[in-house]
Amino acid sequence: MEFNFENKVIIITGGSSGIGAETAKMFAQYKAKLCLVGRNESRLQNVAQHCELISGNVPLCILVDLIQAGSCEKVITKTIEKFKRIDILVNCAGKLKLGTLHESDIDVFDELMAIHLRVPYYLTQLASPHLIKSKGNIVNIGSSYLERYKPGFLPYNVSKNALEKFTRHAAMEMVTEGVRVNIINPGMTRTNLIHNLNIDEGDVNYAYDNLIAELGLKKILEPKEVAKLILLAACDMMPNMTGSSLKIDGAVIV
Ligand SMILES: NC(=O)c1ccc[n+]([C@@H]2O[C@H](COP(=O)([O-])OP(=O)(O)OC[C@H]3O[C@@H](n4cnc5c(N)ncnc54)[C@H](OP(=O)(O)O)[C@@H]3O)[C@@H](O)[C@H]2O)c1
Repeated sequence: MEFNFENKVIIITGGSSGIGAETAKMFAQYKAKLCLVGRNESRLQNVAQHCELISGNVPLCILVDLIQAGSCEKVITKTIEKFKRIDILVNCAGKLKLGTLHESDIDVFDELMAIHLRVPYYLTQLASPHLIKSKGNIVNIGSSYLERYKPGFLPYNVSKNALEKFTRHAAMEMVTEGVRVNIINPGMTRTNLIHNLNIDEGDVNYAYDNLIAELGLKKILEPKEVAKLILLAACDMMPNMTGSSLKIDGAVIV
């Protein structure tokens, strides 16, 4: 079994870092044409250069804050302008913000719902005419913590659960159009997600040590492994795999 992504046009939000960046590099190995979306210019350019070296194809880089008005439209318009089609949309952009009902501002909820639900919803809506033409597919990135109740994770978990429900519903709506929609739910993965909480290095290590203690395998996943599952969901080998929620987490103990 070999993947065939040659000349497929693939949009990856969150392509500048972590899981999205590894996914981009892996798609580049199969000569895909990439549209990489992120906010950090140097990281985005770095990933793009890496992909170009691997595939020979120059990625389209779109530097936007996706939760700002007009950003999702820009992603789809620019991709169509450059590549004339869309085959796969990977909704990977996301962030972790800790919060509780009583101690957090409503802005935390709004931001997480925006990046984990509204943005994938709107990009799906805008990309769907193109995906219907190409009989393409969408891969959303959720979280293996969907079923867990952990202090501080309320807004994050609610937003990822909403994305999971959206995935199943969208899959049902688009199945007759030949468009698949799936969600990958990774466990704790070594990326910039925890660093972006703006805590110092010692606290990052402390967080990882505590999180590792909860994991069946007692180790953090590497983003490459999650990327492999994303490619598996996005490939054409399983045309009936849609509306699926695929977990990869090393047997987290609930
Ligand atoms: N790491 C984990 O343990 C883990 C576990 C389960 C699920 N996930 C999910 O996996 C996905 C990828 O996260 P990661 O772990 O790879 O973290 P990461 O290394 O921090 O990457 C997050 C990506 O999302 C982008 N992003 C965030 N907010 C954005 C916005 N408003 N507009 C545009 N881009 C935005 C970031 O762009 P810039 O850096 O350029 O700003 C970055 O490319 C997220 O949806 C996350 O919730 C991660």
